[in-house]
Amino acid sequence: MKNLEFPKGFYWGTATSAYQIEGGIKNDWSEAGKKYNAGLACDHYHRFEEDFDFAKQMNNNAHRFSIEWARVEPEEGKFDQKELNHYKEVLLALKQRNLEPFVTLYHWTLPIWFAEKGGWLNKDAPKYFERFVEKVVREYKGLVKFWITLNEPNIYASHSFLIGGWPPFIKSWQKTKLALNQLIEAHKTAYKIIHKIVPDAQVGPVTNNIWYRGILKILLDYKWNHWFLENIKNYFDFIGLNYYFGYSISGFIFKGKEISDLGWKIVPDGIYHVLMDLKKYNKPIYITENGLADAKDAKRAKFIIDHLKWVYKAIEEGVNIQGYFHWSLIDNFEWDKGFAPRFGLIEIDYKTLKRLPRSSSKIYAEICKNNAVEL
Ligand code: GCO
Repeated sequence: MKNLEFPKGFYWGTATSAYQIEGGIKNDWSEAGKKYNAGLACDHYHRFEEDFDFAKQMNNNAHRFSIEWARVEPEEGKFDQKELNHYKEVLLALKQRNLEPFVTLYHWTLPIWFAEKGGWLNKDAPKYFERFVEKVVREYKGLVKFWITLNEPNIYASHSFLIGGWPPFIKSWQKTKLALNQLIEAHKTAYKIIHKIVPDAQVGPVTNNIWYRGILKILLDYKWNHWFLENIKNYFDFIGLNYYFGYSISGFIFKGKEISDLGWKIVPDGIYHVLMDLKKYNKPIYITENGLADAKDAKRAKFIIDHLKWVYKAIEEGVNIQGYFHWSLIDNFEWDKGFAPRFGLIEIDYKTLKRLPRSSSKIYAEICKNNAVEL
Protein backbone atom coordinates (compact mmCIF):
# COMPACT_ATOMS: atom_id res chain seq x y z
CA MET A 1 0.00 0.00 0.00
CA LYS A 2 1.30 3.41 -0.94
CA ASN A 3 1.02 6.41 1.34
CA LEU A 4 0.64 9.87 -0.02
CA GLU A 5 2.91 11.79 2.29
CA PHE A 6 2.31 15.50 2.57
CA PRO A 7 5.18 17.99 2.90
CA LYS A 8 6.78 18.37 6.30
CA GLY A 9 5.17 21.11 8.36
CA PHE A 10 1.90 20.90 6.44
CA TYR A 11 -0.95 22.54 8.34
CA TRP A 12 -3.99 20.39 9.09
CA GLY A 13 -7.05 21.99 10.56
CA THR A 14 -10.66 22.97 10.29
CA ALA A 15 -12.28 26.29 9.45
CA THR A 16 -15.12 28.17 11.13
CA SER A 17 -16.56 31.67 11.17
CA ALA A 18 -17.78 33.67 14.15
CA TYR A 19 -21.39 34.36 13.23
CA GLN A 20 -22.01 30.77 12.17
CA ILE A 21 -21.08 29.25 15.54
CA GLU A 22 -20.55 31.71 18.38
CA GLY A 23 -24.08 32.74 19.27
CA GLY A 24 -25.27 35.96 20.89
CA ILE A 25 -24.06 38.29 18.15
CA LYS A 26 -25.87 41.48 17.15
CA ASN A 27 -24.95 42.51 13.63
CA ASP A 28 -26.49 43.28 10.22
CA TRP A 29 -27.59 39.64 9.83
CA SER A 30 -29.19 39.20 13.24
CA GLU A 31 -31.23 42.36 12.65
CA ALA A 32 -32.37 41.31 9.16
CA GLY A 33 -35.23 39.11 10.36
CA LYS A 34 -35.75 35.75 12.01
CA LYS A 35 -34.39 33.70 9.13
CA TYR A 36 -31.06 35.51 9.29
CA ASN A 37 -30.67 35.47 13.04
CA ALA A 38 -28.26 32.76 14.18
CA GLY A 39 -29.40 33.20 17.81
CA LEU A 40 -27.37 31.09 20.17
CA ALA A 41 -25.96 29.05 17.25
CA CYS A 42 -23.55 26.49 18.79
CA ASP A 43 -22.71 28.68 21.76
CA HIS A 44 -19.10 28.35 20.69
CA TYR A 45 -18.50 31.69 22.42
CA HIS A 46 -18.70 29.86 25.73
CA ARG A 47 -17.57 26.44 24.57
CA PHE A 48 -14.53 27.17 22.44
CA GLU A 49 -12.21 25.21 24.69
CA GLU A 50 -14.33 22.10 24.41
CA ASP A 51 -14.47 22.57 20.63
CA PHE A 52 -10.73 23.06 20.36
CA ASP A 53 -10.26 19.84 22.33
CA PHE A 54 -11.96 18.06 19.44
CA ALA A 55 -9.55 19.71 17.02
CA LYS A 56 -6.68 18.53 19.18
CA GLN A 57 -8.11 15.01 19.30
CA MET A 58 -8.16 15.07 15.51
CA ASN A 59 -4.41 15.74 15.61
CA ASN A 60 -4.87 19.13 13.99
CA ASN A 61 -1.98 21.57 14.18
CA ALA A 62 -3.85 24.65 12.94
CA HIS A 63 -7.27 26.27 13.15
CA ARG A 64 -9.07 28.94 11.14
CA PHE A 65 -11.63 31.21 12.81
CA SER A 66 -12.92 34.74 12.40
CA ILE A 67 -13.14 37.74 14.68
CA GLU A 68 -16.60 39.29 14.80
CA TRP A 69 -16.20 42.97 13.98
CA ALA A 70 -19.60 43.75 15.52
CA ARG A 71 -18.48 42.41 18.89
CA VAL A 72 -15.17 44.20 18.94
CA GLU A 73 -16.42 47.58 17.66
CA PRO A 74 -20.13 47.63 18.53
CA GLU A 75 -20.26 51.41 18.24
CA GLU A 76 -18.37 53.44 15.74
CA GLY A 77 -14.82 53.99 16.93
CA LYS A 78 -15.52 52.47 20.36
CA PHE A 79 -13.80 49.20 20.99
CA ASP A 80 -15.06 46.77 23.59
CA GLN A 81 -12.07 45.63 25.63
CA LYS A 82 -14.02 42.74 27.10
CA GLU A 83 -14.58 41.31 23.63
CA LEU A 84 -10.98 41.95 22.63
CA ASN A 85 -9.97 39.99 25.71
CA HIS A 86 -12.31 37.20 24.70
CA TYR A 87 -10.51 36.64 21.42
CA LYS A 88 -7.21 36.78 23.26
CA GLU A 89 -8.45 33.89 25.37
CA VAL A 90 -9.43 32.10 22.18
CA LEU A 91 -5.93 32.59 20.80
CA LEU A 92 -4.34 31.39 24.02
CA ALA A 93 -6.57 28.32 24.05
CA LEU A 94 -5.35 27.51 20.54
CA LYS A 95 -1.74 28.05 21.53
CA GLN A 96 -2.12 25.73 24.51
CA ARG A 97 -3.23 23.02 22.11
CA ASN A 98 -0.51 23.75 19.56
CA LEU A 99 -3.04 24.91 16.99
CA GLU A 100 -1.61 27.63 14.72
CA PRO A 101 -4.25 30.32 14.31
CA PHE A 102 -5.34 31.52 10.88
CA VAL A 103 -7.46 34.54 11.70
CA THR A 104 -10.09 35.94 9.34
CA LEU A 105 -10.86 39.62 9.80
CA TYR A 106 -13.99 39.76 7.70
CA HIS A 107 -16.33 36.83 7.22
CA TRP A 108 -19.38 38.62 5.80
CA THR A 109 -21.04 40.18 8.83
CA LEU A 110 -21.02 43.87 9.69
CA PRO A 111 -21.46 45.97 12.81
CA ILE A 112 -24.86 47.64 12.68
CA TRP A 113 -23.41 51.16 12.69
CA PHE A 114 -21.32 50.31 9.63
CA ALA A 115 -24.24 48.68 7.83
CA GLU A 116 -26.30 51.81 8.53
CA LYS A 117 -23.64 53.90 6.85
CA GLY A 118 -24.02 51.79 3.73
CA GLY A 119 -21.44 49.14 4.64
CA TRP A 120 -19.03 48.45 1.80
CA LEU A 121 -20.80 50.95 -0.42
CA ASN A 122 -19.73 53.80 1.85
CA LYS A 123 -16.87 55.68 0.25
CA ASP A 124 -14.86 55.49 3.48
CA ALA A 125 -15.48 51.77 4.00
CA PRO A 126 -11.80 50.81 3.58
CA LYS A 127 -10.87 53.36 6.26
CA TYR A 128 -13.41 51.99 8.71
CA PHE A 129 -12.09 48.51 8.06
CA GLU A 130 -8.52 49.70 8.51
CA ARG A 131 -9.30 51.16 11.93
CA PHE A 132 -10.76 47.85 13.07
CA VAL A 133 -7.87 45.85 11.60
CA GLU A 134 -5.25 48.10 13.16
CA LYS A 135 -6.82 47.75 16.60
CA VAL A 136 -7.10 44.00 16.38
CA VAL A 137 -3.64 43.39 14.96
CA ARG A 138 -1.99 45.58 17.61
CA GLU A 139 -3.95 43.75 20.29
CA TYR A 140 -2.84 40.28 19.19
CA LYS A 141 0.70 41.12 18.13
CA GLY A 142 2.91 38.16 18.88
CA LEU A 143 0.00 35.74 18.91
CA VAL A 144 -0.93 35.63 15.22
CA LYS A 145 1.21 35.07 12.17
CA PHE A 146 -1.44 34.30 9.54
CA TRP A 147 -4.01 37.00 8.85
CA ILE A 148 -6.83 36.49 6.36
CA THR A 149 -8.27 39.83 5.34
CA LEU A 150 -11.52 38.99 3.53
CA ASN A 151 -13.45 35.78 3.11
CA GLU A 152 -14.68 35.14 -0.44
CA PRO A 153 -15.34 38.67 -1.69
CA ASN A 154 -16.79 37.14 -4.86
CA ILE A 155 -19.45 35.09 -3.05
CA TYR A 156 -20.25 37.90 -0.64
CA ALA A 157 -20.62 40.58 -3.31
CA SER A 158 -22.73 38.40 -5.59
CA HIS A 159 -25.13 37.28 -2.86
CA SER A 160 -25.45 40.62 -1.11
CA PHE A 161 -25.41 43.05 -4.04
CA LEU A 162 -26.38 41.11 -7.16
CA ILE A 163 -28.70 38.25 -6.23
CA GLY A 164 -29.89 40.19 -3.22
CA GLY A 165 -30.42 37.16 -0.99
CA TRP A 166 -28.20 38.35 1.86
CA PRO A 167 -28.03 41.65 3.74
CA PRO A 168 -28.23 44.35 2.47
CA PHE A 169 -30.44 42.59 -0.15
CA ILE A 170 -29.45 44.72 -3.13
CA LYS A 171 -29.81 43.69 -6.76
CA SER A 172 -27.60 45.90 -8.86
CA TRP A 173 -24.63 45.34 -11.13
CA GLN A 174 -23.36 48.79 -10.42
CA LYS A 175 -23.43 48.34 -6.66
CA THR A 176 -21.81 44.92 -6.96
CA LYS A 177 -18.94 46.50 -8.85
CA LEU A 178 -18.68 49.32 -6.33
CA ALA A 179 -18.67 46.89 -3.39
CA LEU A 180 -15.98 44.79 -5.04
CA ASN A 181 -13.82 47.83 -5.67
CA GLN A 182 -14.19 48.87 -2.05
CA LEU A 183 -13.25 45.36 -0.96
CA ILE A 184 -10.13 45.52 -3.12
CA GLU A 185 -9.16 48.78 -1.43
CA ALA A 186 -10.03 47.37 1.99
CA HIS A 187 -7.81 44.37 1.37
CA LYS A 188 -4.86 46.47 0.25
CA THR A 189 -5.23 48.87 3.15
CA ALA A 190 -5.39 45.99 5.59
CA TYR A 191 -2.37 44.34 3.98
CA LYS A 192 -0.32 47.47 4.46
CA ILE A 193 -1.32 48.19 8.02
CA ILE A 194 -0.80 44.59 9.14
CA HIS A 195 2.70 44.57 7.70
CA LYS A 196 3.44 47.90 9.33
CA ILE A 197 2.57 46.47 12.72
CA VAL A 198 3.91 42.93 12.18
CA PRO A 199 6.50 43.01 9.39
CA ASP A 200 6.84 39.24 9.16
CA ALA A 201 3.11 38.50 9.20
CA GLN A 202 1.63 36.42 6.41
CA VAL A 203 -1.38 38.19 4.94
CA GLY A 204 -3.74 36.97 2.27
CA PRO A 205 -7.32 36.88 1.03
CA VAL A 206 -9.55 33.84 0.77
CA THR A 207 -11.05 33.20 -2.61
CA ASN A 208 -13.86 30.82 -3.51
CA ASN A 209 -12.94 29.18 -6.78
CA ILE A 210 -15.20 26.97 -8.83
CA TRP A 211 -14.03 24.53 -11.43
CA TYR A 212 -15.84 25.65 -14.55
CA ARG A 213 -16.16 23.36 -17.53
CA GLY A 214 -16.98 24.02 -21.14
CA ILE A 215 -18.24 27.43 -22.15
CA LEU A 216 -18.47 28.52 -18.52
CA LYS A 217 -14.71 28.30 -18.24
CA ILE A 218 -14.38 30.89 -20.98
CA LEU A 219 -17.15 33.08 -19.62
CA LEU A 220 -16.55 32.94 -15.90
CA ASP A 221 -13.14 31.58 -14.97
CA TYR A 222 -11.30 34.90 -15.05
CA LYS A 223 -14.17 36.96 -13.67
CA TRP A 224 -15.04 34.62 -10.83
CA ASN A 225 -11.78 32.91 -9.92
CA HIS A 226 -9.09 35.44 -10.77
CA TRP A 227 -10.42 38.98 -10.99
CA PHE A 228 -9.99 39.79 -7.31
CA LEU A 229 -6.50 38.27 -7.11
CA GLU A 230 -5.39 40.10 -10.25
CA ASN A 231 -6.56 43.33 -8.68
CA ILE A 232 -4.61 42.89 -5.47
CA LYS A 233 -1.36 41.74 -7.09
CA ASN A 234 1.69 42.55 -4.94
CA TYR A 235 -0.60 42.75 -1.91
CA PHE A 236 -0.76 39.17 -0.76
CA ASP A 237 1.71 36.72 0.78
CA PHE A 238 -0.45 33.64 0.31
CA ILE A 239 -3.71 32.59 -1.26
CA GLY A 240 -6.48 31.00 0.78
CA LEU A 241 -8.55 28.76 -1.45
CA ASN A 242 -12.08 27.63 -0.67
CA TYR A 243 -13.17 24.87 -3.01
CA TYR A 244 -16.56 23.17 -2.93
CA PHE A 245 -17.68 22.12 -6.38
CA GLY A 246 -17.44 22.08 -10.15
CA TYR A 247 -19.96 23.60 -12.48
CA SER A 248 -20.97 23.20 -16.10
CA ILE A 249 -23.90 24.62 -17.96
CA SER A 250 -25.69 21.47 -18.98
CA GLY A 251 -24.71 19.45 -15.96
CA PHE A 252 -23.83 16.80 -18.49
CA ILE A 253 -20.10 16.85 -17.90
CA PHE A 254 -20.64 16.04 -14.24
CA LYS A 255 -23.46 13.60 -14.84
CA GLY A 256 -23.45 10.70 -12.44
CA LYS A 257 -21.43 12.57 -9.83
CA GLU A 258 -22.58 12.27 -6.25
CA ILE A 259 -24.18 15.27 -4.61
CA SER A 260 -24.13 16.67 -1.08
CA ASP A 261 -27.28 17.31 0.99
CA LEU A 262 -27.37 20.76 -0.61
CA GLY A 263 -27.30 19.27 -4.10
CA TRP A 264 -23.74 20.42 -4.78
CA LYS A 265 -21.94 18.14 -7.21
CA ILE A 266 -18.97 16.40 -5.64
CA VAL A 267 -16.11 16.87 -8.06
CA PRO A 268 -12.81 16.07 -6.32
CA ASP A 269 -10.61 16.51 -9.39
CA GLY A 270 -11.86 20.10 -9.61
CA ILE A 271 -9.68 21.05 -6.66
CA TYR A 272 -6.65 19.95 -8.67
CA HIS A 273 -7.63 22.09 -11.63
CA VAL A 274 -8.30 25.24 -9.63
CA LEU A 275 -5.02 24.72 -7.76
CA MET A 276 -3.09 24.34 -11.02
CA ASP A 277 -4.65 27.60 -12.19
CA LEU A 278 -3.41 29.36 -9.05
CA LYS A 279 0.17 28.18 -9.56
CA LYS A 280 0.97 31.20 -11.72
CA TYR A 281 0.75 33.56 -8.74
CA ASN A 282 3.79 31.86 -7.25
CA LYS A 283 2.58 32.13 -3.66
CA PRO A 284 1.97 29.56 -0.95
CA ILE A 285 -1.58 28.26 -1.02
CA TYR A 286 -3.65 27.15 1.95
CA ILE A 287 -6.88 25.33 1.32
CA THR A 288 -8.89 27.35 3.77
CA GLU A 289 -12.21 25.53 3.20
CA ASN A 290 -13.38 22.31 1.62
CA GLY A 291 -16.29 20.24 2.81
CA LEU A 292 -19.88 19.21 2.31
CA ALA A 293 -23.31 19.11 3.90
CA ASP A 294 -23.78 15.46 4.84
CA ALA A 295 -26.06 14.86 7.81
CA LYS A 296 -25.66 11.10 7.65
CA ASP A 297 -21.89 11.35 7.41
CA ALA A 298 -22.07 8.79 4.63
CA LYS A 299 -19.85 10.65 2.16
CA ARG A 300 -17.58 12.87 4.23
CA ALA A 301 -14.63 10.53 4.78
CA LYS A 302 -14.46 9.60 1.11
CA PHE A 303 -14.92 13.25 0.17
CA ILE A 304 -11.88 14.24 2.23
CA ILE A 305 -9.69 11.42 0.94
CA ASP A 306 -10.65 11.95 -2.69
CA HIS A 307 -10.00 15.67 -2.53
CA LEU A 308 -6.69 15.18 -0.75
CA LYS A 309 -5.54 12.78 -3.45
CA TRP A 310 -6.01 15.53 -5.99
CA VAL A 311 -4.37 18.09 -3.72
CA TYR A 312 -1.42 15.73 -3.51
CA LYS A 313 -1.21 15.49 -7.27
CA ALA A 314 -1.11 19.29 -7.51
CA ILE A 315 1.73 19.34 -4.95
CA GLU A 316 3.58 16.73 -6.99
CA GLU A 317 3.19 18.97 -10.00
CA GLY A 318 4.78 21.89 -8.25
CA VAL A 319 1.95 23.83 -6.64
CA ASN A 320 3.12 25.20 -3.31
CA ILE A 321 0.30 24.02 -1.03
CA GLN A 322 1.00 24.28 2.67
CA GLY A 323 -2.22 23.45 4.47
CA TYR A 324 -5.73 22.03 4.42
CA PHE A 325 -8.64 23.22 6.57
CA HIS A 326 -11.80 21.20 6.46
CA TRP A 327 -15.12 23.06 6.61
CA SER A 328 -16.08 22.60 9.29
CA LEU A 329 -15.14 21.64 12.83
CA ILE A 330 -18.74 21.62 14.07
CA ASP A 331 -22.19 21.90 12.48
CA ASN A 332 -23.15 25.53 12.06
CA PHE A 333 -25.52 28.21 10.81
CA GLU A 334 -25.41 28.05 7.00
CA TRP A 335 -26.46 31.64 6.26
CA ASP A 336 -29.82 31.90 4.47
CA LYS A 337 -30.16 28.11 4.69
CA GLY A 338 -30.25 28.07 8.48
CA PHE A 339 -29.20 25.13 10.63
CA ALA A 340 -30.36 22.26 8.40
CA PRO A 341 -27.16 21.69 6.36
CA ARG A 342 -24.69 19.69 8.42
CA PHE A 343 -21.08 20.51 7.59
CA GLY A 344 -19.42 19.43 10.84
CA LEU A 345 -16.89 16.73 11.58
CA ILE A 346 -18.51 17.06 14.97
CA GLU A 347 -22.31 16.95 15.12
CA ILE A 348 -24.23 19.49 17.16
CA ASP A 349 -27.46 18.51 18.85
CA TYR A 350 -29.13 21.93 18.75
CA LYS A 351 -31.54 21.04 21.56
CA THR A 352 -28.87 20.24 24.10
CA LEU A 353 -25.83 21.74 22.33
CA LYS A 354 -24.08 18.47 22.95
CA ARG A 355 -21.18 17.73 20.64
CA LEU A 356 -20.86 14.31 19.03
CA PRO A 357 -17.88 13.40 16.86
CA ARG A 358 -18.95 11.87 13.54
CA SER A 359 -17.10 8.79 12.37
CA SER A 360 -15.42 10.75 9.54
CA SER A 361 -13.61 12.73 12.25
CA LYS A 362 -11.67 9.55 13.11
CA ILE A 363 -10.53 9.22 9.52
CA TYR A 364 -9.50 12.85 9.40
CA ALA A 365 -7.64 12.36 12.69
CA GLU A 366 -5.64 9.51 11.15
CA ILE A 367 -4.72 11.59 8.12
CA CYS A 368 -3.58 14.49 10.28
CA LYS A 369 -1.62 12.19 12.57
CA ASN A 370 0.23 10.50 9.74
CA ASN A 371 0.57 13.65 7.64
CA ALA A 372 -0.46 11.27 4.90
CA VAL A 373 -3.37 9.70 3.09
CA GLU A 374 -3.24 5.94 2.97
CA LEU A 375 -4.29 4.47 -0.31
C1 GCO B 1 -17.55 30.15 2.78
C2 GCO B 1 -18.45 30.22 3.70
C3 GCO B 1 -18.90 29.34 4.75
C4 GCO B 1 -19.98 28.40 4.37
C5 GCO B 1 -19.41 27.21 3.69
C6 GCO B 1 -20.43 26.21 3.26
O1 GCO B 1 -16.56 30.78 3.14
O2 GCO B 1 -17.80 29.64 1.72
O3 GCO B 1 -17.63 31.02 4.40
O4 GCO B 1 -19.32 30.28 5.65
O5 GCO B 1 -20.68 28.01 5.47
O6 GCO B 1 -18.76 27.61 2.56
O7 GCO B 1 -21.28 26.76 2.34
